[in-house]
Amino acid sequence: MTPEEFRLAGHRLIDWVADLRERVPDLPVGAQVRPGQIREALPAHAPQAPEPLAAVLADLDRLVVPGITHTNHPGFYGWFPSNAALASVLGDIASGGLAALGITWQSAPALTEVEQVVTEWLRELCGLDPAWRGAIQDTASTGTLVAMLAARERASGRSQHGGGLQSLPAPLVVYSSAQAHSSVPKAVLLAGFGSDNLRFVDVDPTSYAMDPNALEAAMAADVAAGRQPAAVIAALGTTGTTAFDPVAQIVPIAQRYGAWVHVDAAMAGSAMILPEMRHLFAGVDGADSLVWNPHKWLGTILDCSLLYVRDVDHLVACMSTTPSYLRSAADDEVVQYKDWGIPLGRRFRALKLWFHLRLEGVDAIQQRLRRDLENAQWLAEAVAAQPDWRILAPVDLQTVCVRHEPPGCAGEDLDRHTLAWADAVNAGGRAFVSPSMLDGRWMVRISIGAEATQRADVEALWALLRQEASATP
Ligand SMILES: Cc1ncc(COP(=O)(O)O)c(C=O)c1O
Repeated sequence: MTPEEFRLAGHRLIDWVADLRERVPDLPVGAQVRPGQIREALPAHAPQAPEPLAAVLADLDRLVVPGITHTNHPGFYGWFPSNAALASVLGDIASGGLAALGITWQSAPALTEVEQVVTEWLRELCGLDPAWRGAIQDTASTGTLVAMLAARERASGRSQHGGGLQSLPAPLVVYSSAQAHSSVPKAVLLAGFGSDNLRFVDVDPTSYAMDPNALEAAMAADVAAGRQPAAVIAALGTTGTTAFDPVAQIVPIAQRYGAWVHVDAAMAGSAMILPEMRHLFAGVDGADSLVWNPHKWLGTILDCSLLYVRDVDHLVACMSTTPSYLRSAADDEVVQYKDWGIPLGRRFRALKLWFHLRLEGVDAIQQRLRRDLENAQWLAEAVAAQPDWRILAPVDLQTVCVRHEPPGCAGEDLDRHTLAWADAVNAGGRAFVSPSMLDGRWMVRISIGAEATQRADVEALWALLRQEASATP
């Protein structure tokens, strides 16, 4: 494809994207396909000859659009928000067009330095201590894995340069709550700690936040048994209920035992840009690492996760590899992001954040988050005021956990009822919600925060929930 051909095709593609965004509110929110349907509709072999762009765009409309759950739909309340602000989409396009090879500072100084600038902008916007240093990772899952590798190396006296974990006299133990996201145990296992050395600390039964007394007791018991506490992973905004572990209490306990504190604020981290919400993050500056995802509620398109660490020298010591072909005369003066994580090559992800922040401005993003917080409070009050409906967890953020509990319906009957009305809501195509388990019973999470969702949409959702729940046996 020549640049001129690209120009023509690109204009048509941008029009297609803009048209799609305009018509998303009229589409069903949830994907409309059965397993295998899209694969079967596509040719089994790659085309030998070029196809016209029109054929590709037609397949996007015919096959791909129905095969997507539209997280940009005003009726999307599933999982967590996964906004893709168009300003950030432009940054992603610019990144592809620039085709920067992000392997060292020398290969793309602008990639490194724009990333330094935007991670510093976000640090400041979040009110975080200037000692934090940030890098962009693909996802929070990767950020948590990197944090666990750094924690392992600190606890083991950099055992990777000798016999590794296998040479240690005492097992290293990691602590999180049972409400932690699945990426947490995954990272702990991948980092080699072993499931025998992962403790799920009890949570407060009302707030679902980690109980610091239970954490301290678990650490003391491990030390008494000859094991070594290595890390605590605290969640600020759990996936189930957006519970906030008490980091200000967790940090001093962890420090007494020499354990690394990693904070997973994948979803809730966006709220740090609102000064009035920072009380939920009290104590975070005492942690060793912090991950949060602009690619969730903030609205920067996937994949864009920020990992901040306080001791960047330690991180670099764990991650650094410098083969001769990557060396340059500038090495002593520059940041080498290849040494801040796992991959060597990185995309110019900073551009999507840079475009997003510059083209929208912080004020507009803050206003949108405040709108969502108000909408969540409105919904929580409406649900709490309705007989037979329950709010199951504190609504500190924008996720409301609800259950419809008709008189006489309990246990497995209640589970069947909950799943049936949630399915009915999702099948209707006007809204999409995520059922999830809490304390062994099904409930429904309403996660407000799609860019397009206004108060009228939340009011319509609440009417729909009542209608489907009362029509469901
Ligand atoms: C609290 C929490 N941590 C981690 C993740 C994983 O995020 P990612 O998809 O960026 O790995 C999620 C995803 O929803 C989450 O809710």
